[in-house]
Amino acid sequence: MQTILITGGTGVIGRELSAKLRSKGYRVAILSRTTKKNADIPHYYWDIPQKMIEKEAIETADYIIHLAGANIGDKRWSKQRRKLIIDSRVESANLLLDKISEARKKPKAFISASAIGYYGTTTSDKIFCETDPPANDFLGETCRLWEQAADNFEKMGIRTVKIRTGIVLSKQGGVLTKMLIPTKLGIGSAIGSGRQYMPWIHIDDLCRIYVKAIEDTQMNGAYNAVAPEQPTNKDFIRTLAHVLRKPFWAPAIPSLAMKIIFGRMSSLLLEGSRVSSDKIIASGYNFLFPSLESALTDLLVKK
Ligand SMILES: NC(=O)c1ccc[n+]([C@@H]2O[C@H](COP(=O)([O-])OP(=O)(O)OC[C@H]3O[C@@H](n4cnc5c(N)ncnc54)[C@H](OP(=O)(O)O)[C@@H]3O)[C@@H](O)[C@H]2O)c1
Repeated sequence: MQTILITGGTGVIGRELSAKLRSKGYRVAILSRTTKKNADIPHYYWDIPQKMIEKEAIETADYIIHLAGANIGDKRWSKQRRKLIIDSRVESANLLLDKISEARKKPKAFISASAIGYYGTTTSDKIFCETDPPANDFLGETCRLWEQAADNFEKMGIRTVKIRTGIVLSKQGGVLTKMLIPTKLGIGSAIGSGRQYMPWIHIDDLCRIYVKAIEDTQMNGAYNAVAPEQPTNKDFIRTLAHVLRKPFWAPAIPSLAMKIIFGRMSSLLLEGSRVSSDKIIASGYNFLFPSLESALTDLLVKK
């Protein structure tokens, strides 16, 4: 039985991915900052600032999936928070690399989360693809450093895959659960101009892409993980209201209000361009949920 070690496996993506991998017969272990005795899934402890990882975590891992990182949308991007967002992804990857270089066994692949923030928080008609350079803003720089840390595994001869993820739609947390409340109350509204694109992906598709990254040895380098259909913010909220059978009439939330409430982080909500899913499709991946309406119906309507 192959063991998959998931860093940050306690989060929204990690919990669903663990269940998916276990249902496919993999042994899953989680690397966490919190110890959990007698858990259903073995939890190993790491202390990133202290450069400590429980030895068994590395020695038993056949594959490593690196999801750990301070949440990008939880708190305002103060200087301290920006440092934590980067360090929690980069220093953690560097620590894994150090421990692997000391271990007798190397994993067969290192699969790292990344984000479409790689291309920057900007609204344009360009459709970004994997060969485009990283943007010159905070998220672009974060993703560049995050992926650079992953590339060091490739240099060590370990197959490395970087999953540039769009907005993950899940019932268990993240953006969708935050959008649901106003829409269910019948006051869902666009944000700012409403023209910013929102590349998204259903959690089941994302988990299947991670499984493919483990099993398909041809996969290497960066892949965008976004559904082919990419609505603007206004169309996204309109579709959400339609699926929930709620009205869509409320005026858009002004950009200025978002900037006052969220500071620099408001760019996450106010800007967005389209991102190509051609490469992952060309690799043989078939989306279960290519359209937003099918994804939202599955998550919010089907029992
Ligand atoms: N969800 C999305 O829409 C989305 C989109 C694009 C990219 N991503 C990326 O995919 C990865 C997983 O996303 P997610 O939504 O599952 O995130 P999440 O729910 O916030 O979980 C992330 C996990 O990372 C660990 N973590 C949090 N702060 C940390 C810190 N300061 N240092 C080290 N570890 C820390 C936590 O695990 P422990 O407490 O157990 O250590 C946490 O459970 C993240 O890197 C995220 O940026 C997510």
